[in-house]
Amino acid sequence: MKILLIHGPNLNLLGKREPGIYGSKDLEEINAQVRLLAEENEAELKIVQSNSEGALVDAIQDAARWADGILINPGAYSHYSYAIRDALSAVGLPAVEVHLSNIFAREEFRHLSVISPVVEGTVAGLGWRSYTCAMEGLIGILRERGK
Ligand code: DQA
Repeated sequence: MKILLIHGPNLNLLGKREPGIYGSKDLEEINAQVRLLAEENEAELKIVQSNSEGALVDAIQDAARWADGILINPGAYSHYSYAIRDALSAVGLPAVEVHLSNIFAREEFRHLSVISPVVEGTVAGLGWRSYTCAMEGLIGILRERGK
């Protein structure tokens, strides 16, 4: 089973960035938790972080060559990137959307994710645990589909 984990813009600042909202674990600590789950489930995991929309689109397109599924926190692009949505839709891989914060309890512009309609499901508001819950969900879905 092969999974691509994508972190979008500003997530490289985790740990220092608004810890009251996003928590105190940095990106490497979150990646370590997800890696652990991948190892326990004998899944291969590749991790990408980028602040630019084009690089995220490229990573999604590239995943079509090798991955079985995608875990993605698109950051602020969640709310307006039709390019990322179209890329996910085009590759057609099962994907799960992740948010550390509860986007529905925050500013109005965060309530809409243009990504949500093209993913299997979304996990939001559980802090770093959003990633591990989403990873467990994606692994379960892929297993069910024989990966
Ligand atoms: C986020 C929520 C987004 O609204 C925000 O722009 C982020 C992080 C989250 O993980 O809670 O960068 O995706």
